[in-house]
Amino acid sequence: MTNGQTDTEVRHIEQEAAPSRFARGWHCIGLEREFLDGKPHTVTGFGRKLVVWADSSGAIKVLDGYCRHMGGDLSQGTIKGDEVACPFHDWRWGGDGRCKQIPYSRRVPLRARTQAWPTLVQDGMVFVWNDPEGKAPIPEQAIPRVDGGPGTPGWTDWAWYQTRVDTNCREIIDNMVDMAHFFYVHHAFPTYFKNTFEGHTATQLQKGVNRDDMRPAEVAIGAPKRLGNTSVATYHGPSFMIDDLIYHYEHGDVRTVLINCHYPVDENSFVLQYGISVERPESPEDAAAAERLADKMVQTVRIGFEQDVDIWKNKTRIDNPLLCEEDGPVYQLRRWYEQFYVDVADIRPEMTDRFEFELDTTRPNEAWQREVDENVARRAAEAAEAATSDELVSQTQGA
Ligand code: FES
Ligand SMILES: [Fe+2]
Repeated sequence: MTNGQTDTEVRHIEQEAAPSRFARGWHCIGLEREFLDGKPHTVTGFGRKLVVWADSSGAIKVLDGYCRHMGGDLSQGTIKGDEVACPFHDWRWGGDGRCKQIPYSRRVPLRARTQAWPTLVQDGMVFVWNDPEGKAPIPEQAIPRVDGGPGTPGWTDWAWYQTRVDTNCREIIDNMVDMAHFFYVHHAFPTYFKNTFEGHTATQLQKGVNRDDMRPAEVAIGAPKRLGNTSVATYHGPSFMIDDLIYHYEHGDVRTVLINCHYPVDENSFVLQYGISVERPESPEDAAAAERLADKMVQTVRIGFEQDVDIWKNKTRIDNPLLCEEDGPVYQLRRWYEQFYVDVADIRPEMTDRFEFELDTTRPNEAWQREVDENVARRAAEAAEAATSDELVSQTQGA
């Protein structure tokens, strides 16, 4: 040991392997419109392969991806009527998981049944219910309708983005209570931050102001100047967040809905998806502008997630984060999150009891304002210096 430290004085990172079990609950696997092309689709999730297709009435069906006959990949098959037909020997599987027909055989074997996944289609999104115990969806955990969004007249269609992230999905959940990283990673300036956990929901209420020292990446892509934002973001279950996000601009407020959701590919990767819908301004000439704004906002959110992903790529999993007073309730949040990884019978009250925590932003805001002011002053000094040397150069050239 150096510096005379003993082993006991050093804080060690504790880290168990990520759980091999996947969270119970509704998981959005994409937009409905992606699955309506008359073909079966592969979704790799929950450590397995799923096949997703729309039957003749347009209803979305999800089955385990591998055929119970000889293991063929159903997602490489075709849709015949309401069924998915296996590419190997043409067995026809219905959305209820039963084999309906084997064209070359007199009858279907009794046990010809595979796993069907409960589905929900709502607000243009497709959800599957994952439950390691194999039970039916819990009615109280139904995904609520989005308030605003494409289902509401005057709102834009989803601008949607999907990407795979190679880490366990607990990292994205931690974000929920992590106020400080919004300043350092996302160059935001939170001034109010409160979390509420209750039952299967977890909410983050956040207000923020724009940073004068940042030309945020959104300026580079031509988005209008923002003054600040108010955000109410709620996880409904383990993986689906609806964020009612109001951006305050010089010309007024813009109401938006941000969906932030994921499903696990396996224990060490997940598919992150997000979508944005924007309330169109009243005047019709602004309608196209609203669509462009939605697209730009998706780009802005994409940049934000990429900033998180850069951190996740390099950080380690840590079960015992060392927190200071101005950090959010990481441990309580993880306790809430654990409810989705245990059997229903093992859910303890501390996982679901109401818990509220408002961060005292006084000290962080003072420190951040100082940092912003210093950055602004430094930039001004640099700009002045650059102007002076430009002037000297032109004087020399003129001489
Ligand atoms: S493996 Fe699917 S029909 Fe034979
Ligand atoms: Fe983040």
